[in-house]
Amino acid sequence: MLNSANQVIMEIEASKPAGNGLVMGGLSPLSETLWREKTNTEFVGDVSARLTWKDLTVMVTLSNGDTQNVLEGLTGYAEPGSITALMGPSGSGKSTLLDALSSRLATNAFLSGTILLNGRRTKLSFGTAAYVTQDDNLIGTLTVRETISYSARLRLPDKMPWSEKRALVESTIIEMGLQDCADTVIGNWHLRGISGGEKRRVSIALEILMRPRLLFLDEPTSGLDSASAFFVTQTLRGLSRDGRTVIASIHQPSSEVFELFDRLYLLSGGKTVYFGQASEAYEFFAQAGFPCPALRNPSDHFLRCINSDFDKVKATLKGSMKLRFESNDDPLEKITTAEAIRTLIDFYRTSQYCYAAREKVEEISKVKGTVLDAGGSQASFFMQSFTLTKRSFINMSRDFGYYWLRLVIYVVVTICIGTIYLNVGTNYNSILARGSCASFVFGFVTFMSIGGFPSFVEDMKVFQRERLNGHYGVTAFVLSNTISAMPFLMLITFISGTVCYFMVRLHPGFLHYLFFVLCLYASVTVVESLMMAIASIVPNFLMGIIIGAGIQGIFMLVSGYFRLPKDIPKPVWRYPMSYISFHFWALQGQYQNDLNGLMFDNQTPDLPKIPGEYILETVFQIDVNRSKWVDLSVIFSMIVVYRIIFFIMIKINEDVTPWVRGYMARRRMQQKNGTLNTTVAPDGLTQSPSLRAYVDRTGTTER
Ligand SMILES: Nc1ncnc2c1ncn2[C@@H]1O[C@H](COP(=O)(O)OP(=O)(O)OP(=O)(O)O)[C@@H](O)[C@H]1O
Ligand SMILES: [Mg+2]
Repeated sequence: MLNSANQVIMEIEASKPAGNGLVMGGLSPLSETLWREKTNTEFVGDVSARLTWKDLTVMVTLSNGDTQNVLEGLTGYAEPGSITALMGPSGSGKSTLLDALSSRLATNAFLSGTILLNGRRTKLSFGTAAYVTQDDNLIGTLTVRETISYSARLRLPDKMPWSEKRALVESTIIEMGLQDCADTVIGNWHLRGISGGEKRRVSIALEILMRPRLLFLDEPTSGLDSASAFFVTQTLRGLSRDGRTVIASIHQPSSEVFELFDRLYLLSGGKTVYFGQASEAYEFFAQAGFPCPALRNPSDHFLRCINSDFDKVKATLKGSMKLRFESNDDPLEKITTAEAIRTLIDFYRTSQYCYAAREKVEEISKVKGTVLDAGGSQASFFMQSFTLTKRSFINMSRDFGYYWLRLVIYVVVTICIGTIYLNVGTNYNSILARGSCASFVFGFVTFMSIGGFPSFVEDMKVFQRERLNGHYGVTAFVLSNTISAMPFLMLITFISGTVCYFMVRLHPGFLHYLFFVLCLYASVTVVESLMMAIASIVPNFLMGIIIGAGIQGIFMLVSGYFRLPKDIPKPVWRYPMSYISFHFWALQGQYQNDLNGLMFDNQTPDLPKIPGEYILETVFQIDVNRSKWVDLSVIFSMIVVYRIIFFIMIKINEDVTPWVRGYMARRRMQQKNGTLNTTVAPDGLTQSPSLRAYVDRTGTTER
């Protein structure tokens, strides 16, 4: 133990800065600086991550209350300087094992067993460990280099000079072989960008940028051709040789890729088939009675032996007589895969490999090493907010669907309004026309802002990935999102508001014009904030749009136009609904803004003119004692409230929802168990952890 710790330190010493700060592989001077920053000491010390898991069982509750063991009694370890491959057929629990180790289990999954990092119980979310998930959530409008640069600015310490940050970014680009596409955009629904394999590599690049001590990757090579798969795996191996701990799940690796792994964890149906040196697996299978036939890729052979789907395939083929049986000496032809799996699992349990693994786990667990607390970002809050705002602004300005399309639609619609209500004037009929014009502008025109929802959902996906990896905090995200959207919303509302105001010729006067556009701006921003809050709870864009439209429909109904304010039924609809509706405040303000001070013709010319104040009070039932500016400020304060709600929703989603879901799942399980009387006490199982508590000092991971 001490030896390998010393070895890491020696490596650090050996790779002391050459002076220019340029990094090319090895434990770079930069990553050394990072760790020094983190630990606030001159001497870096042992910062390696030794991960062990013992008797790890993960049980999931299904919607009908049944439970299913996804993982059963897994024991293993991962050491610095090594790369561990998780292999197994689809559905064998590879992703679940990675999730369990990185404290990211689904809310209906319960964990028992011990997971120790450097001999201590730690929850590895929010930046302690980096996790590259199976799907790539990236910002489509940025180029590869920009994506990585922003990520660097978001997380590297402010003090580090930009030249060093850039050197790190460039070295990461080279390390992941992304030079050729470094200036190509990632791509989205309307932009053709980099290939799927390159996206995969960008996702990996983002996580290795900070040189994490512990790196989890879920199928980093899926979708890559054999050359890029080999390249990526070689890079991961290079990282591990730098004193890092790498665990990756892999589907069907080629023999070249397989040879790069140090350790192999073979899973089938959630059980361990083999854990040990990757190079010894060949021997293990031979000892268990399933030697790898000549001319077969060993890893293919291992997976062939443990994939029970082959039984079904064979049965089907047999039934349709498509399989011709030729005599060969492959033991798998004589027995079913299910039997083979059982034999292998039993064989492993009593083998020296299992024994050695347990011994090693015990040995590693005994050494209480450095507490690797949440790594995450080392940039200041200001730097995070600034970078996020800039990144989000660039994304918004490049994504045609985010605001530009809306600007076009807004201008078109307001020109339509302008022509329909052209020079509305002050005759008797214009009274209602002005009312309906205002109601249309503040009802339907603001409503059109829900069109931005799909873009919000994309933003939220990127946020969730980055948040879980500890790139930045919720406050920085909410703040940056608010600020970056501001110029676009101003542009849209000022252009379309101006078109509408001057075509219709609403109440003349600069202040009246200003009120009109400000009110439109505030209302559209409220809709944006409302939709953002919805996006944080409902990450599905169809459902989100339906919910957003429903909420706004109700708000519009109580705005005081479709039913006059005093006629709205008092319980619920008038109090509090109409006061919660921003449409209500917008209309109250705009009616006053437009009618106050104007004189309208009466029904016949011989009757006296009607003052605007009279119409406000008797026809539209507006509270004229309240200034229109008060109405406007209420809408502005609603923006703040909705943004706070947005913030709270994210927090609730992170902390409360997992707890509630876990509680409900546990209840369902208990009810079911009450009748079934199973041997596992549900209370003994740990609920999947709340995301916030990344360092668990209470030790609930142990049964
Ligand atoms: N939260 C959950 N609720 C219900 N079932 C689950 C849950 N998590 C995992 N499972 C089930 O556990 C099994 C293992 O899933 P997992 O995603 O870990 O497989 P995998 O080995 O990663 O597969 P693949 O190679 O296809 O990604 C699957 O049958 C899956 O349906
Ligand atoms: Mg998976």
